[in-house]
Amino acid sequence: MSGTREASDAETASPSTPADDGRVLVIDDEPVVVDVLRQLLRKQGYEIEVAGDAAAGRQCLEEQTWDAVLLDVMLPDADGLQVLRWIREFNPDLAVVMITAFATVESAVDAMKAGAFHYVTKPFNNEEVRNLVARAVQTSRLHRENKNLRRALEERFRFERIVGKSRAMQELYRFIEQVSPSRSTVLIEGESGTGKELVAQAIHRRSPRKDKPFIVVNSSSIPTELLEDNLFGHVKGAFTGAATDRQGLFSAADGGTIMFDEVTTIGSDVQAKLLRVMQNREFIPLGSVEPRRVDVRILAATNENVKDLVKSGRFREDLYYRLNVLSVTVPPLRHRIEDLPLLVTHFLKKYNAENDKQVESIETEALERLLSYHWPGNVRELENVIERGVVLAQGEQIELSSLPKDLEEGAAVPPAASSLPEGVGLYEAVGRYERQLIESALRRAGGVQKQAAKILGLKPTTLNEKIKRLGIRT
Ligand SMILES: Nc1ncnc2c1ncn2[C@@H]1O[C@H](COP(=O)(O)OP(=O)(O)OP(=O)(O)O)[C@@H](O)[C@H]1O
Ligand SMILES: [Mg+2]
Repeated sequence: MSGTREASDAETASPSTPADDGRVLVIDDEPVVVDVLRQLLRKQGYEIEVAGDAAAGRQCLEEQTWDAVLLDVMLPDADGLQVLRWIREFNPDLAVVMITAFATVESAVDAMKAGAFHYVTKPFNNEEVRNLVARAVQTSRLHRENKNLRRALEERFRFERIVGKSRAMQELYRFIEQVSPSRSTVLIEGESGTGKELVAQAIHRRSPRKDKPFIVVNSSSIPTELLEDNLFGHVKGAFTGAATDRQGLFSAADGGTIMFDEVTTIGSDVQAKLLRVMQNREFIPLGSVEPRRVDVRILAATNENVKDLVKSGRFREDLYYRLNVLSVTVPPLRHRIEDLPLLVTHFLKKYNAENDKQVESIETEALERLLSYHWPGNVRELENVIERGVVLAQGEQIELSSLPKDLEEGAAVPPAASSLPEGVGLYEAVGRYERQLIESALRRAGGVQKQAAKILGLKPTTLNEKIKRLGIRT
């Protein structure tokens, strides 16, 4: 096959081979009618099966795939229209041709209203029947192919669980494909909520380690003293209270992958130990003298500028180089805003399912608002907005009025200046801007950090760190 990717998708989407002329189900109890149809349609190359009543018809429909149905309006055990309605529910892609007698043209009209493809009247005009069945078969197939194509397209717009088709995301997918097979360390950088954890998962799932554990360690949520014990474990009697041996996460992850989330929050003691494991592939549990060998791939994520932290002495330079063998930056949502509609659809599906709702879309004005917002909390923030929109929606659409108020206010925050103020460096300017946004969110949240974190699309722990680092008074 020499086709492009589109061509091959279209081919796999096609459910039939050219040799296959179509399968037609006739649901009718009149032997004469059935015989005529059988002969007529077999000559055309169709595969025909006959069901003598509604019950047998349903069974055939449930058990096999059909390209068209010829359905009598009057069946011994049911009204043909009822059966038609059932088929429309069960398989809306399937074209149904109703068979009526001259006397019941009215019911033919009803049938069309109920979604029949067409109707034929008895006695048959052979030419008409042949044409109708051919068109019905073609229509059913087109519907099916369309659906398959749509599905294939949807799959193309995602990679593992990551949604996005922008050029930036496609580059990210290529990067993941390239680095997955190796055991090299990858540093995943990016603002909060951009999907760094999803990227780490995708790397693991596409690696030869995929059937071994994938463990996420968030050092900011574990006190330093406990982090070491958590990672490396201890032997019985290592300290007061160590009544038994404890296996650490490194042992638990043997053969798999550990992701260090917010890696810059690791204290300097543990940084030194981590460097050792990375260099020697072994570690010594607390209180032991015997090194343990492990085979663990390390991934690290951060939303801070690690280089700056190295410069200011808060992060070990040697560890930074070890972690940074391969690195990638997950783009912020505002730099790939063309992915927003896809993400909205994705989250609509997710939260419809969770809340047992059927919100189909979002009002145009509301979508425009989302597209012009700057998304400091990135995809996580968008996800929160859509969840809320689905829960609040009364009808089939997310309305402008159900978007959070801070989306408006957030949009009203002046965009960062396009040039730096005199004598101010980039990081300082960004720091000022960040401080401004955090302070405004805290004010809006009445000083409740958890609430402010939600507005900003940050995890409460991340916000807390930023508040400390920037010395913001709460
Ligand atoms: N491209 C994406 N497609 C689908 N869902 C996404 C995407 N990016 C992020 N998400 C969703 O957004 C939320 C935040 O993602 P994730 O936890 O990976 O972000 P993060 O970069 O690790 O954030 P933080 O720095 O705050 O830890 C998750 O619920 C995740 O499933
Ligand atoms: Mg994360």
